[in-house]
Amino acid sequence: MREQDVRYRPAGGADEPVLLSPPDVGPLEESYLLRALRSGWVAPVGPDVDAFEREVAERVGTAHAVALCSGTAGLHLALVALGVRPGDVVLVPTLTFVATANAVVYTGAEPVFVDCEPDTGNLDPELLDRTLRDLRRAGRRIGAVLPVDMFGSCADYGRILPICAAAGAPVVEDAAEALGAAREGRAAGSFGRAGVFSFNGNKIITTSGGGMLVSDDGDLVDRCRYLSTQARQPVPHYEHTDTGYNYRLSNLLAALGRAQLRRLDGMLTRRRAHRERYAKLFASVAGVRLLADADASANCWLTSIVVDQETAGWGAADLGRHLAAHRIETRRVWKPLHLQPVFAGSRAALSGAAERLFADGLTLPSGSGMSDQQAARVAEAIDRFLEGR
Ligand SMILES: Cc1ncc(COP(=O)(O)O)c(C=O)c1O
Repeated sequence: MREQDVRYRPAGGADEPVLLSPPDVGPLEESYLLRALRSGWVAPVGPDVDAFEREVAERVGTAHAVALCSGTAGLHLALVALGVRPGDVVLVPTLTFVATANAVVYTGAEPVFVDCEPDTGNLDPELLDRTLRDLRRAGRRIGAVLPVDMFGSCADYGRILPICAAAGAPVVEDAAEALGAAREGRAAGSFGRAGVFSFNGNKIITTSGGGMLVSDDGDLVDRCRYLSTQARQPVPHYEHTDTGYNYRLSNLLAALGRAQLRRLDGMLTRRRAHRERYAKLFASVAGVRLLADADASANCWLTSIVVDQETAGWGAADLGRHLAAHRIETRRVWKPLHLQPVFAGSRAALSGAAERLFADGLTLPSGSGMSDQQAARVAEAIDRFLEGR
């Protein structure tokens, strides 16, 4: 293939659709992948897996990391390793991607949904506290609490961690969206007994599919690593005393992840610049705010606006339709899990905040690969929409 035929990302041309958060890969990723391929380490073990684990742990400030085939696998393994079992309850924000709650269901435990803070979309600590007390009073065993760092903005761990400690509930941080974010000087992923990142194709860095569990707890990480490779006993033949999983990340994909990690700071800068631009665009528009706009340490994985239709005179869906006509992708904020048919009848502690964000929220193109030309096209389309109101 000729050099000029190589295309790593959607081009920033005038006619190209602008996507929400496409992968941002280039020559560095190609060179890392090729080097791994040529090294012969085409397996779920190898030097790039080991190095990727070390590099992510160092970046997050945890003692250990284990590379996995997805973030969902990481959440599942963390719960299994913590001894979560059928009959337990695990508290999960209702405003999240379904994977958070699916990991709970895989263990046989029951997810209990808790509503969010209206400003950030993150787990509401007060409601969490009340729900934990109610469940304990009812004699339920709390397997874990699974806060999510929504769209790359850390949950309020200053309040959540003491509440969980008082309830004797281990915390697993779903930091799938939050690599590079921080709160009060601590990195996302480092707050709970374990933290989990996703490297899915739409995330801030991608291995096309993959994840990482990080923790300071060496025993927990050893257990996760063991379970992630079919729970093989350390003997020459195949010997198994536990049911394991096939959850390891391949060495090729770890190589891709290492290249992406090297570019993380630059990618964060671009995503933050997109948020700044949106903040300026909507600054003087009555009834519109940015989700988690007060969080200066967010990684800005996705920027969402929240529209108060009565004040603005238009709704999030109106802008979404306008942008779609200009081939600009937007998406609604998560549909709360307590409204999902698959979780019909589940227990939920609700304030109405998540349902309002689902109704009024709109996520805008935020990818680090979005060209300046594309960003200008989005800004122009939004300007034109606002002028017409
Ligand atoms: C909040 C959240 N949790 C978990 C996941 C699952 O990660 P993965 O797709 O790598 O399994 C995702 C994203 O996909 C997510 O956004």
